[in-house]
Amino acid sequence: MNYIEEQIISIGKIRIENHLTNIGIEMVKKEIIKGLYAPEKYISSKFFYNETGSKLFEQITQLDEYYPTRTEKSILSTFVNDADIDFQNVSIIELGSGDSSKIKLLLKQISPVQLKSIRYFPVDISQSTILKSSLELIKEFDLKSITGIVADFILQLKVLPKTGRRLFCFFGSTIGNLTKTEQHAFISALGDEMQSGDGFLLGMDRVKDISVLENAYNDKKGVTAAFNKNILNVVNTLCDANFNTDDFEHLAFYNKAENRIEMYLKALKEMDITINSVFDTIHLNKGEKIHTENSHKFTDKDVKAIEEYGNFNLKNIFTDKNKWFNLLYFTKK
Ligand code: SAH
Ligand code: AVI
Repeated sequence: MNYIEEQIISIGKIRIENHLTNIGIEMVKKEIIKGLYAPEKYISSKFFYNETGSKLFEQITQLDEYYPTRTEKSILSTFVNDADIDFQNVSIIELGSGDSSKIKLLLKQISPVQLKSIRYFPVDISQSTILKSSLELIKEFDLKSITGIVADFILQLKVLPKTGRRLFCFFGSTIGNLTKTEQHAFISALGDEMQSGDGFLLGMDRVKDISVLENAYNDKKGVTAAFNKNILNVVNTLCDANFNTDDFEHLAFYNKAENRIEMYLKALKEMDITINSVFDTIHLNKGEKIHTENSHKFTDKDVKAIEEYGNFNLKNIFTDKNKWFNLLYFTKK
């Protein structure tokens, strides 16, 4: 999450551009501080992903309880034959690309001749993740190029490449981490950005049994708890604050009315937090919660809404045997 240093990295066929410097550290501090002074305190889930947070997320994806990754991967590893996507000369733009392990499963199903014509653009707020995954990917696949875009995909959709026919990918059900209002605004902004003939592959986690959902966010090894608490280290670094992660407890439960897992950090004691650039301290009562994440789960009605907000045609719905996860393929009208 490099909001300060102007940086372009170039290694062979890989180029990485950091656009976060255009947002700047002062704006980020303001955003975090606003959430911490709100009557119901919150920190945006995008701040989970510093180097440690990205590594912890990768560990989460390996957990027995965390079904979404292996379920989506099982769909991704076989869907290409059944989807009518032309990969020749396409620009693949993957939003929130993380370790790029999902795009690998797609690329494995494409012929070497077509691979050579593909430009891949991983887009992520975490520069360390983009660099690591791009170096790994180019070893395995002879692509035309990889251009990593370090950017906030909500605030900076406009920096995405415009050339050629584009296939946008948004895996992992990361869309579920946005509020309903943000989801609709994001999908209509993406729809406006896309041109007729562009495609959109979207991974969405579905509503299911509450115990399956709650176990996925309360794993026995405590990796999700460590991931949740690490957000306070990120805030400490970005805002020069003095949160102590040991003073908080991880809390995650399913809100049935909203079809979402909600994650919080609950204060184990009363405390005053100082932030270097702010005159007043931030007071927390014992038991007070800081909201850190929503993870919405979806229904068929939500799929229809996305098709409408984006002005898309829904071409395919791929799913697993339990119907726990959907991979949707839309084209722009
Ligand atoms: N797509 C991968 C990773 C999902 S984790 C998978 O399915 O396994 C979510 C990813 O989105 C992280 O890599 C995180 O750094 C990135 N991310 C979250 N919010 C973001 C934002 N606002 N802009 C850009 N990237 C973001
Ligand atoms: C990235 N995102 C879709 C994950 C999710 O399931 O909402 C992040 C996560 N939070 C806790 N565990 C995993």
